[in-house]
This record gives sequence, structure tokens and C-alpha cells, in this order.
Amino acid sequence: MIDLRSDTVTRPTPPMRRAMADAEVGDDVYGEDPTARALEEEVATHFGREAAMFTPSGMMATMTLLATLCERGSEVVCESDAHVVAYEAGAGAALAGLQFRTVDGDRGRLDAERVSGALRPAMFPYTPLAAISVEETTNRGGGAIHGLDRLRALRALAHERGVPLHGDGARLFNAIVATGVTPREYGAVLDALSFCLSKGLGAPFGSMVVGDAEVIDEARVWRRRLGGGMRQVGVLAAAGRYALAHHVERLADDHANARRIAERLADDLPGSVDPTEVETNIVYVSTGAHDAASVAAALADDGVLVGAMGPHLLRLVTHLDVTDEDCVRAAELLSAHLREPVA
Ligand SMILES: Cc1ncc(COP(=O)(O)O)c(C=O)c1O
Repeated sequence: MIDLRSDTVTRPTPPMRRAMADAEVGDDVYGEDPTARALEEEVATHFGREAAMFTPSGMMATMTLLATLCERGSEVVCESDAHVVAYEAGAGAALAGLQFRTVDGDRGRLDAERVSGALRPAMFPYTPLAAISVEETTNRGGGAIHGLDRLRALRALAHERGVPLHGDGARLFNAIVATGVTPREYGAVLDALSFCLSKGLGAPFGSMVVGDAEVIDEARVWRRRLGGGMRQVGVLAAAGRYALAHHVERLADDHANARRIAERLADDLPGSVDPTEVETNIVYVSTGAHDAASVAAALADDGVLVGAMGPHLLRLVTHLDVTDEDCVRAAELLSAHLREPVA
């Protein structure tokens, strides 16, 4: 199978498994897992921040940060299609007592001017603003990148209102590799951020949160509260350390493969995808009059898995478990299905 449903489907490579097997471990709830400690220290240093914390998932990373940064009964401004509102089972409301004020962006990206127009007055009895939250890169926005200029403007706006700029950087390293913006620059513009080890970086597990020591200390309490206090977690932290050491630069290959797919489809089926919008590893394809789920099912019969994200929308995500040839083959097969007469 050529599995392009998500970059979460990767399996640990043999050297990553060896690093996991050889990891030194201890009880992390006691703060005694040396491999988790090393990962957290390396990541904090990498982003030029005081502290970092390992979490089981991207969702728990986001929730520990938002719950720490925002009082119950306050609101977080984010883009209308943000992961935190689209896919997290209402976690912000259910667990942290937050409401989200969503603002339409372009390809999932927020823009300071639009956000500014949407902010409620900072006075009683308006719901208090607690944070502005961005996704870098955007998931439902097709892997689009905010970049530093937009983020600086959003940070200035957030700070004018006395609240932090929070970054859900599930795919932050895709943005880092695509733009050359450094982790330190992202660490300086985002007051608190998370990124996933288990997506393009290819680890089987885990995310990191990064920020001020005080924030990370409180995020640790939230991780515990959410059931994410872990024991001999070094086995998994070792995979994250391996991924950061060996799987960052290669994200450029995933981006090239995504563009290759987009260009092939745009050539064969003008209008199905705009390759200039494919900045990282996610390709959204319009199926035109074809039913997306039926096309996905037909492709699965050919050995290619893609995601049906809407009635006429497919998503393909490139990652380290698919080769250049796999991507070319997937694009050819998808193109052939989309050129068939509509059933
Ligand atoms: C932008 C974004 N944030 C958060 C997450 C959640 O990550 P996890 O599945 O590890 O909880 C995802 C997962 O796809 C994501 O795309």
C-alpha cells in the first residue's frame, strides 16, 4: 500500500528502533527518566526557551498549554478551520472551560488585521480574551505557512491586548525546513508552542511543548491532570531524539514529493489543485464532479490510500514511508480516476 492519508502513519525505522531499545529509562513522574530529560533540554535549547515538556500527543500538548495560559470562561481566537476546533472533540470547552472565537483566514492562516477587527472590546461584560492561537503549518489549510512577518504582527496584536500568541506547531518543522526560519526565530515569536514528533518527523509517539519555565511547570500539572504522566517513557523519548537528529532535513524530500503530485494533477486536470499553494507536505485535490469517497475507494483498490476530506475533496500527505516513485504512481492513478467519466 502507498499510504498518503497522513504523515502520522509512518513506522519507526530500524535505527530508530535500536535507539529506542537502547534508551536509558527511569520513572518520569519522579522526573527520573534521563532520556526524556535530555529530549526536553535539547528541545528547549533548540528553540532558545527556558523549558520544554514531552507529551503523549499533539492534542495533549495543545491542551496543556491552553489550559495553562487561559482562565476558564475566557476565549481563544483561532482560525475557523483550526485543528483545535475541527478535530479535538471539544477538548478546550470540555476540559479547560474555554470557548473559541473563530476568524476566517486564508488557507488556515490568521492575519493580524482581520483578527484585530474581530476582537471584542476589552471591558466588562465582554468575554475576556485569553490567547491568540495559530497553526504552523495549517492542517486543513493544506500545509500553508504563516511565516515570521504574519506571526510578528499577530504577536504585537496579542501583546497589545496583554495575551500570549500560542502556536500549534504540529508540523512546525515542515515550516522550518521550507522557509529556513530557525527554531529560535519561531521560539522568539511564539510565546508558547508545541510540535509533533509523530508526524513528518517519523517518531511513533509524542509531541513537545516549549515556553517559559513557569508555563511549562504548570503545563506539567495539566499533563498529570489529563492522565499524561508517564513512567519509563525514555523508550519513546529516544525515538523523538532520533527523529530530531536524523529526520529534519529530509522533510524537504516530502515537500518535493507533494509538489510533484500537485504539478502532475494540475497538468492533467487544470483546476484540481494549485501547485503554487503546495508549500509543504499536504496536497488538497478537488475531485470536481466525482464523489471523493468513491475515488478514494477506487484508489484503495489500486493500492493507494488517500483521505476523503469533503464530498469533493481529497487530501494526500507525503512522509518518510513513501518514495518519489510511490508519489508519482499515486498521482498517475488519481489522475486516471479523475479523468474517467463521472459514474
Ligand atoms: C495541526 C494539528 N494539531 C494537533 C494535532 C493533534 O496531534 P495528535 O494526533 O498527536 O493528538 C494534529 C494532528 O493531526 C494537527 O494536524
